[in-house]
Amino acid sequence: MIVSIHFEDDQKTVQVEANQRLTQICDDHPSSILFGCRCVACGTCLIEIVSGMENLTPVLDEERILLDVLAPENPNIRLACQCIVQGDIRIRVAD
Ligand code: FES
Repeated sequence: MIVSIHFEDDQKTVQVEANQRLTQICDDHPSSILFGCRCVACGTCLIEIVSGMENLTPVLDEERILLDVLAPENPNIRLACQCIVQGDIRIRVAD
């Protein structure tokens, strides 16, 4: 299945195979999203899901702990390094 990922900051949409890590997609299609550790330690990759939250793999415990510290008020925030894309999404770098 092919899915669309729209990067709001870069005003571009890429189409990729579903079930890829967002890190891999961003490596293949450079965007404004930056990565540091890639392992739920730094928080560099914080993104806001504008639409399609249901098309990402669920938040696991380790990510939840960091999200509760970095973005406790916003349920639309994810760590891009922990997301596997299963359907269309629109994303942007979190403030
Ligand atoms: S890149 Fe460090 S938490 Fe995602």
